[in-house]
Amino acid sequence: MTERYPQLLLKNRRHGKTAYLHEYLAGGGYQGLRKALTMTPKDICETVKASGLRGRGGAGFPTGMKWSFFPAGQPGEKYLLCNVDEMEPGTYKDRTLIMADPHQVVEGIVIAAYALQVTKAYVFIRYAYEPCVQVLRRALGEAADEGFLGKNILGSGFSVEVDIHGSAGRYLCGEETALMNGLEGKRPNPRYKPPFPAAKGLFGRPTTINNPETLASVPHILTMGADGYKNLALNDKGAGTKLFGLSGHLNRTECFELPLGIPLREIIEDFGGGVWQGRKFKACLPGGSSTQFLTAADLDVAMDFDPLKERGSGLGTGGVIVFDDHTCMVRAALILIRFYARESCGFCTPCRDGLPLVLWLLERIERGEGSLDDVEMLRQQVRNINGRSFCPLAMGAMFPMEGLLRNFEEEIRVHISRGRCPLND
Ligand SMILES: Cc1cc2nc3c(=O)[nH]c(=O)nc-3n(C[C@H](O)[C@H](O)[C@H](O)COP(=O)(O)O)c2cc1C
Ligand code: SF4
Repeated sequence: MTERYPQLLLKNRRHGKTAYLHEYLAGGGYQGLRKALTMTPKDICETVKASGLRGRGGAGFPTGMKWSFFPAGQPGEKYLLCNVDEMEPGTYKDRTLIMADPHQVVEGIVIAAYALQVTKAYVFIRYAYEPCVQVLRRALGEAADEGFLGKNILGSGFSVEVDIHGSAGRYLCGEETALMNGLEGKRPNPRYKPPFPAAKGLFGRPTTINNPETLASVPHILTMGADGYKNLALNDKGAGTKLFGLSGHLNRTECFELPLGIPLREIIEDFGGGVWQGRKFKACLPGGSSTQFLTAADLDVAMDFDPLKERGSGLGTGGVIVFDDHTCMVRAALILIRFYARESCGFCTPCRDGLPLVLWLLERIERGEGSLDDVEMLRQQVRNINGRSFCPLAMGAMFPMEGLLRNFEEEIRVHISRGRCPLND
């Protein structure tokens, strides 16, 4: 199935097996690092910029631009953080990548550290992902033994130390400033920005945070060249490949590496094997739970940042969650809001008080006790929360709510007027 498209990130994936150093080297591993060490840090940033790589952690910020803001020349400690918190519902691609081929992430970290002139990096990972922690630990050990990591890497004079930080884990720990607080041993509340992490991050020092998929893409950019990487996408503005983690009501729920710009329909029908049990497609969240619901009218959308944004949704983390026509969309949204309300840190009012109110409204509509005024109340709450919360967690929670109100308002109204879910008729 995946032979249809070039594989970079998952090319070494073997069912139930991890590719360790000898296999990684046999497939051209650490050639990106060798190339990087012949370049200046600035040239690496420029190449990554030219490749069009955008962050794979959810926000899609251009990686080369982020790196070019970093004060690489500033003396003293500077940090690189690899964010493997990965707790968003429907998102499991980083774990898949690490379990399949951890050296790619290690190589990406070392190249990024060199480009940013950082000598200390941390992998921040939930302890619940213990198998990933073990796999990464072994890969870091192998890389250090072979001189790809540690002091005077491959005789270049550049050194970087990489540590794994196992966190207790909450969804909010994935937010970059909450992550830094967590790493410092504090309560993982988000920090006020500015100052941005590039100016004052971990322990008050310049810091860059990247997703492991973003970092693992960098060695390929250096070996293929910026244009070679960019041209992998199927659409003009897109760049590279992306991991799509499929879940929900599909015949095949796996993680696939596919070119950016691939139509949603192809992902669902060909890679997901179509909607399960012979049912029909009703809706999907194209990029994890912090994106808006799409409907059958959107099936031909190109799966990339801008085309999805134009449809009012987003690429997010690439976690494609599919809902069949037996799904109650009120209940689907309710389950997500329950998650977000539980994960709120309680610091700001729109999130602490707004999310439980949205949950309460959805629960009473679902129980058949709602009134038609509740629809307007839900809309009002979405407006109140959007743009007013201290960090993006609450805004992320409002994306599926906006999609619910935009595409399934009639279903909410039928719940209210019949006093029950119409699917129970
Ligand atoms: C509540 C919340 C949770 C997040 N969780 C993650 C996560 O698990 N992994 C991740 O890479 N980014 C996560 N992010 C985004 C990060 O804050 C940050 O933008 C990202 O790690 C930057 O990496 P990138 O530029 O490579 O995408 C989260 C953001 C929010 C608001
Ligand atoms: S939006 Fe506010 S309450 Fe919610 S997690 Fe962020 S800072 Fe905490």
